[in-house]
Order: sequence, then structure tokens, then C-alpha cells
Amino acid sequence: MDGSGFFYTHIKDIFMDITALFRITYGMYVIGTLDGERPTGCIVNTVLQVSAEPLIISVCVNKKNYTNGCIKKTGGFAISILSEQIDPDVIGKMGFNSGKDTDKFTDVAHVFTDDGCPRLVSGISAWLSCEVVESFEIEDYTVFYAKVNDSANDLHKPMTYDYYHRVVKGKTAPNAPTFVPPQAEQTVAIPVADKKQWICGTCAYTYSGGVPFENLPEDWRCPLCGRPKSGFKNE
Ligand SMILES: Cc1cc2nc3c(=O)[nH]c(=O)nc-3n(C[C@H](O)[C@H](O)[C@H](O)COP(=O)(O)O)c2cc1C
Repeated sequence: MDGSGFFYTHIKDIFMDITALFRITYGMYVIGTLDGERPTGCIVNTVLQVSAEPLIISVCVNKKNYTNGCIKKTGGFAISILSEQIDPDVIGKMGFNSGKDTDKFTDVAHVFTDDGCPRLVSGISAWLSCEVVESFEIEDYTVFYAKVNDSANDLHKPMTYDYYHRVVKGKTAPNAPTFVPPQAEQTVAIPVADKKQWICGTCAYTYSGGVPFENLPEDWRCPLCGRPKSGFKNE
């Protein structure tokens, strides 16, 4: 970061202002698929409509995410387009934990689409049921291209990636293509506070509730990733 407050990165002898990429707009989604018969999935912000006829969308999923292999085996997924009413716990569960170790859909109300994939029933704006027709491996990611077989619109206001950062004060997980170090994220999205803050050691969520952090009950957990209170650092 230089004195002007911008975060620069050094790529092939060129200094680039990567905050320019913060101006690309995205939505927030839960992509739900199957691990055998078990529902699983994760948060993504990289859904894009590719064509209207046939109706094709794309989504970019990190190869390290357990969801990636499950989509490859299942050949399909459902997209729940999150609304501003989504419970932040759902984002924490789906975006900062792995389906390899946990049953992410336990305690998250869901149903299965006719294609057999799980979608959320509350806190969503709309949903799509998708069948993979093509995929492309690039760097750490697989871009899945999928035909939309079914969809419904709940008409609630969709949550944008920007809203998630500014209003929910959420962070992006390291396996997301849009991940940037918290230092760079703070320069643009969140003003740096001049006093110490309580920050989650797993997902970097910054506590901003009305109750002083010290007075929170001992069984209080990070609303984003579920880490216990003891896992917060005061810095
Ligand atoms: C706001 C946000 C956006 C994300 N976007 C993506 C994305 O577009 N693609 C991706 O592969 N992972 C993305 N992630 C990361 C995955 O949700 C995360 O790595 C998750 O723990 C993977 O779970 P899994 O191992 O069960 O698949 C995002 C996470 C957050 C919190």
C-alpha cells in the first residue's frame, strides 16, 4: 500500500492498482450439490449468465473446495440467489467450513429440485436448477457451464457482494477468486478504525455489535464461520 491509500501489486514488472477489481459487481449465492446422497455445497459470488438460448450460466469453483469434486460427480447443482434477509450464520456455515468435515445443510432449511440438488427455502431471492454441460480448468479453478432446467423467483431483494461487505461486514474466504488480503479490503470497503477491534482468527470477521465484546456470553460464536469467542483476537 502506498501513501495514497491504494493497494498495489507487482505483476511482471508492472505495478497495478488491484482495487480497480473491487469495482466489478457480483451477487451472493449458495451452490448446492450432492456428495452421494448427502447434500453439500458452498458460497460463491461468481455466477454469470452466459447465453439466453439455450439458457446457460457459469460458475467458478476452486479445485480445493470439496464442492468442486461433488459437482463433477453429480453433474449438476442448484443455485440459491441469496437475499438481504439471509441469516449470516448460513453464509458462515457454507463459506468458511468444508463439506468434507461437516454436514452443511443440517439446520439449514432446504428442499431438493427436480434435478435432485439442494436449494435453500428462506432468505433467498430466487433459485435455479442447473445441469453441467461443459467445464473448463483454469489455474486453481474450474469454470462450470450449466443449462438451467428449472427456476423460480421469490422477488426478495438480492444481496450484492458489496452489500455483504459494507452492511453485513462480511469477509471473503481465501478459496474465492475475488479474495484479497484483509489489509487491501479495508482500504476500500471498510474504514480502518483507530482503536483496537475484536477480529475472528478464522474468517477475519470484525465484531461490531452493541454489547461490548468482553460482555458477550462465553458460548457466543462468530456469526460468519462459527468460531468460538475464544478464537477472536484484539488488534
Ligand atoms: C463471500 C464469499 C464468496 C465466495 N466465492 C467463491 C467463489 O466464487 N468460488 C469458490 O470456489 N469459492 C468461493 N468462496 C469460498 C467457499 O465458499 C469456501 O472455500 C467454502 O468453505 C468451500 O466449502 P467446501 O469445501 O465444502 O466446498 C466464497 C466464500 C465467501 C465467504
